[in-house]
Amino acid sequence: MSETLIEVKNLQVHFKRKSSKLLSFKPEILKAVDNVNFTIEKGKTFGLVGESGSGKSTIGKAILRYHKPTGGEIFYEGKEIGSMSEKELLSYRKKMQSVFQDPYSSLDPSHTVQDIICEPMEIHKMHTAAERKERARELIRVVGLKEQDLLKYPHEFSGGQRQRISIARALSVKPEFVVCDEPISALDVSLQAQIVQMLQDLQQKYGLTYLFISHQLQVVQKICDEIGVLYLGNLMEISDAEKLYSNPLHPYTKMLISSIPVPDPRIKTLDKIVTDTGVQSRGIGGCRFHNRCPGCTERCRQEVPALREVEAGHFVACHKYE
Ligand SMILES: Nc1ncnc2c1ncn2[C@@H]1O[C@H](COP(=O)(O)OP(=O)(O)OP(=O)(O)O)[C@@H](O)[C@H]1O
Ligand SMILES: [Mg+2]
Repeated sequence: MSETLIEVKNLQVHFKRKSSKLLSFKPEILKAVDNVNFTIEKGKTFGLVGESGSGKSTIGKAILRYHKPTGGEIFYEGKEIGSMSEKELLSYRKKMQSVFQDPYSSLDPSHTVQDIICEPMEIHKMHTAAERKERARELIRVVGLKEQDLLKYPHEFSGGQRQRISIARALSVKPEFVVCDEPISALDVSLQAQIVQMLQDLQQKYGLTYLFISHQLQVVQKICDEIGVLYLGNLMEISDAEKLYSNPLHPYTKMLISSIPVPDPRIKTLDKIVTDTGVQSRGIGGCRFHNRCPGCTERCRQEVPALREVEAGHFVACHKYE
C-alpha cells in the first residue's frame, strides 16, 4: 500500500513585478504557479517537466518553503506546512533537502569538501564535530569519491564530481525528501546516466522520495514513477511515466515528446509540432496553451480546462477529453 509523503493542493505562487507599461507604477502580478495539484508517494520519484519559465523551480522552492505560497496548501505527511511559521518549520527543514543544476555556484569555493558536507549537520546541530567528520567520510564513499577528496576544494573537481559532492551534502542530514532541480542538465550525456543511476541507488538504499525537475522529457522518463507536465504555471497532464510516453493525451505533452531527439530517423515521432519556447501567453484567457494548440476551439479561448482523471491515475487538463 503506497503512502503519500507530499500533497500539493491548489498551489499558487504569484510574484509582484514592476509594470512593463510606461508611466504605470502599479505592480504587475506574475502567476508563476497557478492552482497546481499533485501528490508524491513515499519512496517514489515525481517528475516535473516543462519549458523554461513554466514554474518548475518555483513549485520546488514552495514545497521547500523558500517561497511562501500565495495560496493553496502543501502537506507533508498530512501536516500543512505551506503556512507554517519559521519556528514550526524547523523540524521539516532537515527532512527536505535539495540538489541544484549548477553545483559550482551552490558549493562555496573557499570551503573544503569536508566543510561543505558537514555544514548542513552543523546548521541543524547534529552530532559532535568528530561524528560529523566520520559521516562525511562515509558519504564521500557512498557517492563514489575518495576519502582524500574531503580535503580538496570544489574547483579541483569535474562537473559530475561536484554534483556528487552536492548530493553527499544534501544527504548528510538524512533527509526523507529531496528536490532535484535539473541536477544533471549541465552534464555530458554519459555523466548524466551515471548520476541518474546513483540517485536511483541512493533512493533504494535510504528510502528517499524525490521531486525531479527537468526540461528534458527523455531524462525524467528513466528515473520517474509519475510525471507532471507544466505549462506556464498550470499542470496540463499527470500520468505514470510509462503511460505518458506510450499514450500522451495533452497536445503540449505530445509536442514535448515530438521534440525528443529520436536516435533512429526512421522511427516516426508522435507529432510534428515544433517547440517554440519564446511564445508566452500567461495573461491570456481560457486554456493557457490555446494559442499554440493545433486543436484549439472557441471554448478553449474562453474557459480554463480543469485537470480531470480520464483513466486510472492519468489526469489531463484539456476540453477534448471531457
Ligand atoms: N523570485 C522571483 N521574483 C519574480 N519572478 C520570479 C521569481 N522566481 C521566478 N520568477 C518568475 O516565475 C516564472 C517561473 O520561474 P521558474 O524559475 O519557476 O521557472 P522554471 O520552470 O524553473 O524555468 P527554468 O527551466 O528556466 O529553470 C518565470 O517567469 C520567472 O521569471
Ligand atoms: Mg528552474
